[in-house]
Amino acid sequence: MSFGNRFFFVSLFLGTALTRFCNCNQVVLLDTTSVLGELGWKTYPINGWDAITEMDEHNRPIHTFQVCNVMEPNQNNWLRSNWISRQAAQKVYVELRFTLRDCNSIPWVSGTCKETFNLFYHETDEAHGVKFRPAQYTKIDTIAADESFTQMDLGDRILKLNTEVREVGPINRKGFYLAFQDIGACIALVSVRVYYKKCPFTLRNLASFPDTVPRVDSSSLVEVRGACVDHAEERDTPKLFCGADGDWLVPLGRCVCSVGYEEIDGSCVACRPGFYKAYAGNIKCSKCPPHSFSYGDASAICRCEKGFFRAEKDPPTMACTRPPSPPRNLIFNLNDTCLLLEWSPPSDTGGRRDLTYNVQCKRCGPEPDHCQLCEDELRFLPGPLGLTNATVTVLDFSAHANYTFEIESLNGVSDMSSFPRQVAIITVSTDQGGPSLVGTLKKDWASPNSIALSWQQPEQTTLPIIDYEVKYYEKEHELLSYSSTRTKAPSVIVSGLKPATWYVFSVRTRTAAGYSSYSPKYEYETTGDSSNMASDQGQVLVIVTAAVGGFTLLVILTLFLLITGRCQWYFKAKMTSEDKRRANYQNGHVPFPGIKTYVDPDTYEDPTQAVHEFTKEIDPSRIRIERVIGAGEFGEVCSGRLRTPGKKEIAVAIKTLKGGYVERQRRDFLREASIMGQFDHPNIIRLEGVVTKSRPVMIVVEYMENGSLDSFLRQHDGHFTVIQLVGMLRGIASGMKYLSDMGYVHRDLAARNILVNSNLVCKVSDFGLSRVLEDDPEAAYTTTGGKIPIRWTAPEAISYRKFSSASDAWSYGIVMWEVMSYGERPYWEMSNQDVILSIEEGYRLPAPMGCPVALHQLMLHCWQKERNHRPKFTDIVSFLDKLIRNPSSLLPLVEDIQSLPESPGEEMDYPMFISVGDWLDSIKMSQYKSNFMAAGYNTLDSVARMSIEDVRRIGVELIGHQRRIISSIQTLHLQLLHEHEKGFHV
Ligand code: ADE
Repeated sequence: MSFGNRFFFVSLFLGTALTRFCNCNQVVLLDTTSVLGELGWKTYPINGWDAITEMDEHNRPIHTFQVCNVMEPNQNNWLRSNWISRQAAQKVYVELRFTLRDCNSIPWVSGTCKETFNLFYHETDEAHGVKFRPAQYTKIDTIAADESFTQMDLGDRILKLNTEVREVGPINRKGFYLAFQDIGACIALVSVRVYYKKCPFTLRNLASFPDTVPRVDSSSLVEVRGACVDHAEERDTPKLFCGADGDWLVPLGRCVCSVGYEEIDGSCVACRPGFYKAYAGNIKCSKCPPHSFSYGDASAICRCEKGFFRAEKDPPTMACTRPPSPPRNLIFNLNDTCLLLEWSPPSDTGGRRDLTYNVQCKRCGPEPDHCQLCEDELRFLPGPLGLTNATVTVLDFSAHANYTFEIESLNGVSDMSSFPRQVAIITVSTDQGGPSLVGTLKKDWASPNSIALSWQQPEQTTLPIIDYEVKYYEKEHELLSYSSTRTKAPSVIVSGLKPATWYVFSVRTRTAAGYSSYSPKYEYETTGDSSNMASDQGQVLVIVTAAVGGFTLLVILTLFLLITGRCQWYFKAKMTSEDKRRANYQNGHVPFPGIKTYVDPDTYEDPTQAVHEFTKEIDPSRIRIERVIGAGEFGEVCSGRLRTPGKKEIAVAIKTLKGGYVERQRRDFLREASIMGQFDHPNIIRLEGVVTKSRPVMIVVEYMENGSLDSFLRQHDGHFTVIQLVGMLRGIASGMKYLSDMGYVHRDLAARNILVNSNLVCKVSDFGLSRVLEDDPEAAYTTTGGKIPIRWTAPEAISYRKFSSASDAWSYGIVMWEVMSYGERPYWEMSNQDVILSIEEGYRLPAPMGCPVALHQLMLHCWQKERNHRPKFTDIVSFLDKLIRNPSSLLPLVEDIQSLPESPGEEMDYPMFISVGDWLDSIKMSQYKSNFMAAGYNTLDSVARMSIEDVRRIGVELIGHQRRIISSIQTLHLQLLHEHEKGFHV
């Protein structure tokens, strides 16, 4: 018998409840709500499921399947869909919307009424028609309702619609059927939607990425190479990774617009006339530089106006230029041997800075048109061509001649112009007259450093001689420089010369009329050096004095350093652990008052001393080894029991040092015990003691029943509540807070180095600084030669080994991600190089599935590039405590927020807010601004202290809105903690 009067209300909600927002990353294979004609699904037996088709307010059919044989035992009613092609899918999702009647609400059906139905599928390459054999079908799941409804609900006309989604796959055949088995429930199947997920076509960084179907295996990503959009070219290969949920992850590489094109709204658009772009890249088109133009679209370069040019090496960005005007104000200054030409730069440099001058000389006869070029006869200093200063000295000219000099200014485009060159011209007559020359120059004597010269006074001088100028230079270096000296007598001793060197001398007289010409040149040599020995001895003396002085200084300095205690190696062996703590403190670890600080065992000259100080020796007769549980770097790891007189026997893990070790290995092995022995915290693995006086050498620690956290989570995927996971994270954070307060930096914090006991308590293990990295299979060599677990390590520690509690906080964020994803590998199978690159480009791991917003926020906080902005472990512990005390704050999940109808597909961004208004805008809750203000919550500080009751009290009534606000307040709280720490006021 069927249960009458059923499901008359179905159409009440369909118009609204089934409205969906964009599911852009889903490809729908079947949606019963959008099938206009008959569905044609088969029912077996005929009187089982009923197909009911009604019309909605838009006259569209609503296909519903109903069954309600709750009074009759042994129901086995099947409903089979049509054949559904799988298209490109490997895995499909089946979304069912249905109502289910609560059996308690139906009288007299207790033995027969059921509250579940079964979902099946069968893969085939083609449709079977009416043929249906239930045995061929594979069960997907038993479907139960989250919400069943009662007769009372019916009376109130409140409908409880359930939505259930199941994954089916991998599917290998071309298509499949779905089948629904009813075994005696009262069900209305309102809609069936079958879809698969894809990463939809997208444009990123000027590259297009096609629709991509994710892998069936949800832990691996599909790497997709992008194709540059039109008029763009590749820089680094553009890549995206398609994740299992149809999200694009980790953008790498990019394309840039080609020459002549600029980026506008994600595509490359041609430069307009009058504009150009000469280089490919993310730069805009520029206006043509002065004296250039472009007529067409997409110009790579602008052409020069007439009379203007671009030199070969001029960049396209430079204005076009022209040759300079001629030099101005050309004058000369002549004396007996030297003619100086000087001029002013041209009035128009042509717009360039590469101005030079060329000098051309013409010697003309009495008739001005009988001229010949004369550059070769004269000497020009510094030269006749390519002058950069507006002056030139002319030498070796004839005494009685007329010279014409043409000075031309040039620049980098002078050669390109066909205009005749313009020059500045000057004519110089060298026939000047003046005082007479002196006669022969005689050497009177020479020494290694001096030469004495004398000469005859000129016989006839019209004016009295004021003095003589003696010019001399080293013969070998004639053109480099010369010296001169003056004397009133016709003799001179020229000193300061080099031994055994030839010099050239000449003399001229000076009268009131000026200088005479120089006498002819005379060459004389200084004598050889007999005083070398003396000067060598002088040098030796200087060296010896310096050496003795230096040595004395060294002795004084060494004594000083020893007295001030800087030569720590000298004292190392004599330091107590208290001294070493102080030494650690000086090395940058700031201890908290009342908290012991950690002592690095390496500060002990004798490491066994550190072992004695920080560990207890155990008599091996107290240890019973039971099983081998693993292999460490130094030997086997076993489980066993430890007896202590007067105490209960406890389970322990025993690390052994295998035989045949060298002293360094024994020291490294026991180093971990020396570190662990200093710690005493419920979230740090406890050292019971060591065996060093007999073989094998052993380290005995508390036993952790569930082994390492990463494999434990992988074995229990999806088994824990969010609160349990947060509890584990809280424990790890608390252990890390203790370590950072002690001044200990772990450097290898990762889920594999956390141990879990039978009560799910997590404890930090694996101590030993550099050694643990040797031991860690995740540690890879960096370019600087260090061995670092790249995926867990903060960028500053990878780049320049800046390890600190802040870099441990980064690793903690990764551990959070590992925990929330049940042991997924961070950054999946991306290469270490890609991980480094993507972090540098600002990419951060997305929230794992089912991860509360507040936790992903905390992860992002830990992954701030600026290490001082990351939370301290003390902040992390108090933040997690708050979440645990207020579990509703963990309800908003990242995937819920991301699919809010108000912002389809939009990613949440979490900036540092400035005002309460900005903050509400950012979480799309602007409508409550006046509620917050009216209640006096006008600073972020006051908002951060609000509870859910406060939020309700100010008039936020919708539960979803309350949740959204509260979850954002959690994050706000953490941010504010930091702003205050940095003295930053919001
Ligand atoms: N493996 C390494 N150390 C361990 C411990 N303390 N307990 C259990 N398994 C371990």
